[in-house]
Amino acid sequence: MKTEVLPLDAASLERAALSLRAGEVAAFPTETVYGLGADALNAQAVGKIYAAKGRPADNPLIVHIAELGDLDKLITGADARARALMGAFWPGPLTLILPRGSRVPDVVSAGLDTVAVRMPSHPAALALIRAAGTPLAAPSANRSGRPSPTTAAHVLADMDGRVPLILDGGACSVGVESTVLDLTRGQAAILRPGGVTLEMLRTLLPEVRVDEAVLRPLAAGGEARSPGMKHRHYAPAARVIVVTGGGEARAAAIRGRYDAAALEGQRAVILCQAGHAALYGDRKAQVLGDGAGEMAANLFAALREADAQGMELILAEAIQTEGMGLALMNRLLRAADFEVAEAGGCQNSE
Ligand code: TXA
Ligand code: MG
Repeated sequence: MKTEVLPLDAASLERAALSLRAGEVAAFPTETVYGLGADALNAQAVGKIYAAKGRPADNPLIVHIAELGDLDKLITGADARARALMGAFWPGPLTLILPRGSRVPDVVSAGLDTVAVRMPSHPAALALIRAAGTPLAAPSANRSGRPSPTTAAHVLADMDGRVPLILDGGACSVGVESTVLDLTRGQAAILRPGGVTLEMLRTLLPEVRVDEAVLRPLAAGGEARSPGMKHRHYAPAARVIVVTGGGEARAAAIRGRYDAAALEGQRAVILCQAGHAALYGDRKAQVLGDGAGEMAANLFAALREADAQGMELILAEAIQTEGMGLALMNRLLRAADFEVAEAGGCQNSE
């Protein structure tokens, strides 16, 4: 199959929509990451998503809608909490787990009796859903296990020859996947932190909590509330170590590990906050940005870049888990397969 990358214009949107209506897949930009979409109500089309990604069949997909009216096709009902959250945060990077309606094929939900739904805010995503005339099931458009794509070039790197077309909408603004909030098991729980933060959700839902698996590995035999939690994710080829602690103690620990790796001939890179690069002298350091939001937006591109440069070790500064820091730490820890080095010093940091 030849993969075409199309510029974002009316003609491309129409082509992509036609292709989706015909039961094909298409990759498109959202404000979070690029998605690989298919008609959510067509089981055969959705099957092509799993095939193109190499995605395990037990990991369900998020269904994307453009109008609240589309909800009736997908869920059996939304309670007052769900309605309030939709009013406040849709369109935007918030996915709600809701009771699944009978028209949603099993393959979308991996057989669960719930379905994940979100209304993205990216104008091209909304236009595509409307033009396709159907909700779109769309996971991130990476090969399973790779970092999520935040540019069309990332999608092409993973999907060349596996999907017919990619709409190129430039870089994604949020840069990490949506917040996944489960509303189906009593107390609302964040299964995956993202662009709508815990603090933002608390303004409407003071009781919301963060699932244990967000910052810790699943206990052996433990049940994953979100099947995505059990699969290694966001993983570059390099070994990733997250280094906690603060100030000079952390910088010294990172320098020590970097130098030890270099002595063994390993290629290493440090991922750090703006203003910290000088702490690492002439070692190779990649600044992710100033503040957690910017750092999160640049993380996946940095992980892919490290792979492209043949890096074998990535030493990442930990960050406080406030605001977007929670999403950033969740992705870093999962990329590291929860390998953490504690440097001491006063916890976080300058
Ligand atoms: O920002 C995003 O959410 C992007 C863009 C394309 O919208 N999509 C995305 O999809 O990240 P994906 O498939 O990479 O991640 C979906 C996550 C997985 O962790 C999956 O396990 C979880 O949502 N999920 C989906 N349906 C679920 C359900 N019914 N119950 C619990 N977790 C669910
Ligand atoms: Mg994904």
